[in-house]
Amino acid sequence: MMSFSRQQGELNIEGCAVSALAERFGTPLYLYSRAAIEQAWRAYDAAFADREHLICYAVKANANLAILQLLAKLGSGFDIVSGGELERVLKAGGQPQKIVFSGVGKSRAEITRALEVGILAFNVESEAELERISEIAQALGKTAAISLRVNPDVDARTHPYISTGLKDNKFGIDIHRAGAVYAHAAQLPGLNITGLDFHIGSQLTEIEPLVDALSRSLALVDRLAEQGIILEHLDIGGGLGIAYQDETPPTPAALATAIKPLLANRPQRILMEPGRAIVGEAGLLVTQVEYIKTGHRDFAIVDAAMTDLLRPALYDAWQRIETVDAGQGEARFYDIVGPVCETADVLGRERHLALAPHSLLAVFDAGAYGFAMASQYNARPRAAEVLVDGNQAHIIRHRESLESLWQGEVLLEPS
Ligand code: LLP
Repeated sequence: MMSFSRQQGELNIEGCAVSALAERFGTPLYLYSRAAIEQAWRAYDAAFADREHLICYAVKANANLAILQLLAKLGSGFDIVSGGELERVLKAGGQPQKIVFSGVGKSRAEITRALEVGILAFNVESEAELERISEIAQALGKTAAISLRVNPDVDARTHPYISTGLKDNKFGIDIHRAGAVYAHAAQLPGLNITGLDFHIGSQLTEIEPLVDALSRSLALVDRLAEQGIILEHLDIGGGLGIAYQDETPPTPAALATAIKPLLANRPQRILMEPGRAIVGEAGLLVTQVEYIKTGHRDFAIVDAAMTDLLRPALYDAWQRIETVDAGQGEARFYDIVGPVCETADVLGRERHLALAPHSLLAVFDAGAYGFAMASQYNARPRAAEVLVDGNQAHIIRHRESLESLWQGEVLLEPS
């Protein structure tokens, strides 16, 4: 991706030197390329240009208001999974009628608010939820547009923690039962059946599981039509992977090419819920070496931790790590670890790097599920976030202050 380049060995993001941004904003620091986000969104949009469609960006991947705002300006819709994400999207200028609401545990308050603002559809994950939505809609005198999230029982062939479309997973309604659940929905007051959706997992590197899930879903769409239930949209979820290491995930264009024949002569609007594929490659986590500790293993102890980027600790995920400069001294194999008191606090193992004390490191492909999964464990304030646009750098989230760590906590007596 052209958003990252090197000049005389120095890493740049768009027209800015990463070292200068680290100096200005401090580390650990999240940097995002505006061009990379827009390019990824447009590539998705263009791939489906010849069909009526809506990209509903999965907010969970990166929920920063500025990023939501720039996506809303491009015309994006949003896939949300909580009342908090709903308010973020509204705050950023997203349109309610472009929002789909997924998630297995929607509360009464969340459903009520979504009905009040008038979202595009609820992706319903169980019969109990269907009944709850019907009841609330009726009480409010509203009609809820609903789509059933079916669980197509396909193996997405990704990490088990981010696989969602197997019948053992908690997500969605068993596709074999879905016909009966649709029939039930059609009887319930306050509901308008508008769609069907599935999402089989994340960081998918193969297209077949998606094609498989779609063809199973289309067979259901046909059975529903025979029952007189005509759907307006099909939501094919998100999940396209990015190349963290040597994966070759399908592009949105390849996905579109693979599924369009299945969709020929079908009038439904196509919705999709990509998260990682829109923002993943656009983000860097910049961190500075605090200490180098050599011995039985060589460690570079850096100022970022699992609290800033959880993926390596949680999924044993591999993300590319490079020095921000051309490297200093002799390269060795380092474990790049953070200051948190957990053995799992690793950003990368055995990375061949030429480091000096204070070297800056960039962890690539950190735009999705990076800051979004950050925590304050060990009383660590969360990092700052900066959006780079050409040679401009916009702070889009200030580094947390220490005071913010205990905001809302209450002493038992004055200290
Ligand atoms: N739609 C639904 C209903 C989802 O549950 C998800 C992600 C998406 C869309 C977006 O998936 P994407 O296009 O980003 O793959 N924290 C994990 C990923 C968890 C994904 C959860 N659901 C990671 O860092 O790999």
